[in-house]
Amino acid sequence: MKEIKISDHIWFVGENDRRKELFENNWPLPYGVSLNTYLVNDEKSALIDTMEFGVAANYIAKIRRVLNGKPLDYLVVNHLEPDHASMIDGVLQAFPGVKVVGNMQTFKILQHYYTIPEENKLQIKDGDEIQLGESVLQFFTAPWVHWPETMVTYEKNTKTLFSCDAFGGFGALDGGIYDTNVNFEAHYMSEMRRYYSNIVAKYSNMVQKALAKLGGLDIARICPSHGLIWNNPAKVIALYDKWSRQEAETNGVVIAYASMYGNTEQMADHIGNLLGEKGIEVRTFDVSKTHVSYILNEIWKYKAVVLGTCAYNTKMHPMMEHLCNEIGLNEPKNKIWSLFGSSTWNGAGVKDLKKFAEEAKLEICGPIVEMTGGASPEKIEREAEELVAALIEKLK
Ligand code: FEO
Repeated sequence: MKEIKISDHIWFVGENDRRKELFENNWPLPYGVSLNTYLVNDEKSALIDTMEFGVAANYIAKIRRVLNGKPLDYLVVNHLEPDHASMIDGVLQAFPGVKVVGNMQTFKILQHYYTIPEENKLQIKDGDEIQLGESVLQFFTAPWVHWPETMVTYEKNTKTLFSCDAFGGFGALDGGIYDTNVNFEAHYMSEMRRYYSNIVAKYSNMVQKALAKLGGLDIARICPSHGLIWNNPAKVIALYDKWSRQEAETNGVVIAYASMYGNTEQMADHIGNLLGEKGIEVRTFDVSKTHVSYILNEIWKYKAVVLGTCAYNTKMHPMMEHLCNEIGLNEPKNKIWSLFGSSTWNGAGVKDLKKFAEEAKLEICGPIVEMTGGASPEKIEREAEELVAALIEKLK
């Protein structure tokens, strides 16, 4: 992308990446992702984060164009994950006099990735400021949003918050870089929640702490490291507040099942149809077909989750185990959980699901519906009806 002027002194010098298949080599990117980095070009200049090496072919040239012959004075490292930091070496080579700005944690971690000469390091503390001219950068540590060294940078003159991963989202920037350029609800909101539920969710309590810490700032614009730039910051702050409080957006049910030959799937559809008949919104996923990334997104959106598995070599199905592992890692809270499944001789799959639920301290709603092989319609209907009745009662 070409450099884009945001204000008198602030430039967007980031890139879209529509080639990468998997973010963190784990999460699908059907609509790409943006790697946002910003240049504050005042009497002195500061680059806010860098970008991943693979999309940085034009990065240094863009910075040089904006600086127009001036040196780069500061490189602010809000976050060291390589999607934002792998061009640190490149920036140092292009601008050997640059001061690399970070907190104590930044430099502890940075030494394991990059060699920065001592004279290039500038260690700041929470609340410290650097005057660039009219522009003044102030730094606030935001540990674990998303790594322990993470901080955000506030430019006081324009009231711009460079928020790093916080307020970010999946999805390349199509047709402009601002929230005002796009139909957010139609596309970006789901990609933003998917990013939150996949990447940030585990640290929701730290997001709450960061929101409280930054609550006193007058914020006119949010410039995150992925996704849209927010000229209406109140909207995205409210969304992040809701997601990090782990409040469901919709009082409906996600059903995720693993089924080899369709018997567990029949049960999933039966439960789903019973819920639908009672007016409950349902989203049903085959875990072998839909990537766990999208299922986590829906789990974050809906209030109740019903997990079902067939037995597989004395365990739950491996794809359900994958989903359970991600649920265990991301620790969604305030959900209603129910379980079901099938086996042929020893109940292994459901036994495994129960064990997972106990270890993850999930409170189970209603009976755990278990059938042997292709269950009789009577058994399916009776037990599934009890499960659905219990779910509806809880959802009220
Ligand atoms: Fe976008 Fe935690 O890096």
